Amino acid sequence: MSHIDSAPSTPGKVKMEKSSYFFTRGGGARWHYSLAKLTVWSFAFLALILIFFLRSPAPSTITSAADPSRRSLRNYNWGGSAWEKRVRASARARSSNGLTVLVTGAAGFVGTHVSSALKRRGDGVLGIDNFNDYYDPSLKRARQALLERTGVFIVEGDINDEALLRKLFEVVPFTHVMHLAAQAGVRYAMENPGSYVHSNIAGFVNLLEVCKSVNPQPAIVWASSSSVYGLNTKVPFSEKDRTDQPASLYAATKKAGEEIAHTYNHIYGLSLTGLRFFTVYGPWGRPDMAYFFFTKDILKGKQIAIFEAANHGTVARDFTYIDDIVKGCLGALDTAEKSTGSGGKKRGPAQLRVFNLGNTSPVPVSELVSILERLLKVKAKRNIMKLPRNGDVQYTHANISYAQRELGYKPTTDLQSGLKKFVRWYLNYYSDGKKAVE
Ligand SMILES: NC(=O)c1ccc[n+]([C@@H]2O[C@H](COP(=O)([O-])OP(=O)(O)OC[C@H]3O[C@@H](n4cnc5c(N)ncnc54)[C@H](O)[C@@H]3O)[C@@H](O)[C@H]2O)c1
Repeated sequence: MSHIDSAPSTPGKVKMEKSSYFFTRGGGARWHYSLAKLTVWSFAFLALILIFFLRSPAPSTITSAADPSRRSLRNYNWGGSAWEKRVRASARARSSNGLTVLVTGAAGFVGTHVSSALKRRGDGVLGIDNFNDYYDPSLKRARQALLERTGVFIVEGDINDEALLRKLFEVVPFTHVMHLAAQAGVRYAMENPGSYVHSNIAGFVNLLEVCKSVNPQPAIVWASSSSVYGLNTKVPFSEKDRTDQPASLYAATKKAGEEIAHTYNHIYGLSLTGLRFFTVYGPWGRPDMAYFFFTKDILKGKQIAIFEAANHGTVARDFTYIDDIVKGCLGALDTAEKSTGSGGKKRGPAQLRVFNLGNTSPVPVSELVSILERLLKVKAKRNIMKLPRNGDVQYTHANISYAQRELGYKPTTDLQSGLKKFVRWYLNYYSDGKKAVE
């Protein structure tokens, strides 16, 4: 038996046993000859190990932090046959003509409502969300529990995680992506600009990279924002108006998203529809938005800051109720044409659209407070302040005729009725003593 035949299976041991063999049995030329042989065999052995690692399948449970290029991502556990089963079950449509939709940001305010509406009408829905702590994550967990009860599974992960997105498309051939994951909020951009670049730019590009390369490519509907109108003064805002004067980094990243969408449509044939939402409000809403924290502060007897523009100018918003936004999103998904690319290549022109989804009736913020006072039966302590120049614009007002024509979009909820539903939810959600209002 040659010494090779008895080589042990770990490289460290090979080295040790070989040395004892050389020093006891050999000398001079024989020693050199054996050393050369050992080197050759060591290289062969290392090459074998390398081939083994390159060819071995991905482990069933993968953590994104294992990939050094993804160090900025948190550690999420995903994968395995039980996980894949849940993914498949959640994404299964009730009927053969139902959509199969990947909803990013599904634990978010809009994402939860859209996912639940899709599931209710029989479409297959799978969510993905990174549950970040931009606002109270327990609210995201509560939304997750709500969706869980309707049969929607939310995969915990980041849209920047390419391996995870590829895996999801490998398990489910999604027909549509409803992309709502983003770093939202206008003022927070001055505190944490990197989070906007991470989610709204890098994350979007990563998602599009995966979508362009899968077969079949899905159609993508995604959330832009009314904030792209920036410093525009011409109202109502029309999709044809200029959008090159953003007033915040948030707005700039949404505008960049629209340009990025154009590129992927142009080069790869991805069908892309951008929706410019106008100040969405309603039950399960976002705690960082004025209607939400005004409610909290009014109930606590705390002073609230109400902004006014120069020369006592009114600050107003085109507040849009969540159910109307959901109808707009479903209308966009239903009218989205198929992407035209395959194998990462465009095969023909593909659909590229941008729609305003607003309510077309701006309401002054002071009026919003008056409605809340009436609903809460508490007088607000108003502190009128000058609108700071940190991202907020004075006025938003949507022209929705294009969405009306193409999506059948028709908002039906006025601010008074919508806030009534929000306040009812708020009091119920925070009254049972279990959830603390921060
Ligand atoms: N609510 C509004 O008034 C409004 C207005 C205009 C545009 N929008 C846009 O609509 C979309 C939904 O907004 P929302 O109000 O539901 O906000 P939201 O913050 O409640 O929801 C966004 C969700 O995305 C998740 N997320 C963020 N970055 C992620 C990442 N990198 N990977 C995975 N998940 C990530 C968050 O955890 C969150 O749950 C966003 O794109 C937002 O910019 C909202």
